Amino acid sequence: MKVLAILYNGFNAAVKEPRLLGTVENKLGIDKWLASRGHEYIVSSDKEGPNSDFEKHIADAEVLITTPFHPGYLTRELIEKAKNLKICVTAGVGSDHIDLNAAVDHKIQVLEVTGSNVVSVAEHVVMNILALVRNFVPAHEMIERGDWQVSDVARNAFDLEGKVVGTIGAGRIGYRVLQRLVPFDCKEHLYYDYAKLSTEREQAIKARRVEDIEDFVSQCDVVTVNAPLHEGTRGLINEKLLSKFKPGAWLVNTARGAICDADDVAAALKSGQLRGYAGDVWNVQPAPKDHPWRTMKNPLGGGNGMTPHYSGTTLDAQARYAAGTKSILENYFEGREQEPADVIVGLGAWATKAYGQR
Ligand code: NAI
Repeated sequence: MKVLAILYNGFNAAVKEPRLLGTVENKLGIDKWLASRGHEYIVSSDKEGPNSDFEKHIADAEVLITTPFHPGYLTRELIEKAKNLKICVTAGVGSDHIDLNAAVDHKIQVLEVTGSNVVSVAEHVVMNILALVRNFVPAHEMIERGDWQVSDVARNAFDLEGKVVGTIGAGRIGYRVLQRLVPFDCKEHLYYDYAKLSTEREQAIKARRVEDIEDFVSQCDVVTVNAPLHEGTRGLINEKLLSKFKPGAWLVNTARGAICDADDVAAALKSGQLRGYAGDVWNVQPAPKDHPWRTMKNPLGGGNGMTPHYSGTTLDAQARYAAGTKSILENYFEGREQEPADVIVGLGAWATKAYGQR
């Protein structure tokens, strides 16, 4: 059986750090195991264009492994060329880089290692919120420059205590973000999600549901995005919705870059409508050198907390999603049923309720 994996290059770091399992060099740690079972295992980072390894090998691969950190974009057109493809495994969480409707139509199963990095991301979100609210990045840059002017950074630094924090999406990550914020004594925790939490779960994270998104954003000092990218969330945060935010709100998005309109966010930060924007996900990955989010700033020259996509690929997370990928493959090879929570698209049908109301 031919197994194709599109992973990111680890180069020297991966040679020196074997726990960087999700790299081309370390192959999710499953190369010897696959070889011992007689499978052909192709691993590459080369994913763009008709001559890429991705497009060449997808033509006859039966299993595709991809990762959201360096997404191999499996379009409907590619799915139509992938005559042997039976199963796509996302090493991580978030399978929007696959045309999921086309996977349904072509009876290709899509699985994720559900839950594998949700704590990793929730911790990153809390860090991003604090970094923005406390104006950390400009303060650190000042120190590196050799300067010391407290008022220049204190003029845009606040406490998280007493602020209203809201999450778009209160699933595994959104829930854990609010759970981790409980000791910060925020004024309120809000959530916007078509899936209502049980009263007990709402109480445990002190959360109140707001059903209308404009009403929701107008009440939040901090908005964090924790919903998958699908037809209902693509471009959700655009000029119109940003105009309904509280002036000077902070926005953190570690879900998917394309949930926000890139130019509209950059303009809102420049005007001060947003005081800060942070996250690690981009509408195209790797992000081009001239992407506006790399350098955008608020009127005081700060408010940018962007990083490459790494919140869900800590070494702890890599151990979990590498093990989860292996177990999904084992189930597939043995003809065993998959863990229901891991199945995004089953044989010819959607299996999850998290990718929009259908
Ligand atoms: P989950 O499936 O546990 O929760 C997603 C929640 O979003 C569900 O409650 C769902 O009802 C809600 N939702 C869906 N559409 C919505 C909409 N239009 N408006 C409001 N809520 C909506 O997923 P989990 O594990 O919390 O992950 C969420 C997303 O985070 C993933 O799909 C992925 O895109 C992203 N992620 C990012 C990572 C990173 O490294 N930056 C790593 C892991 C996940």
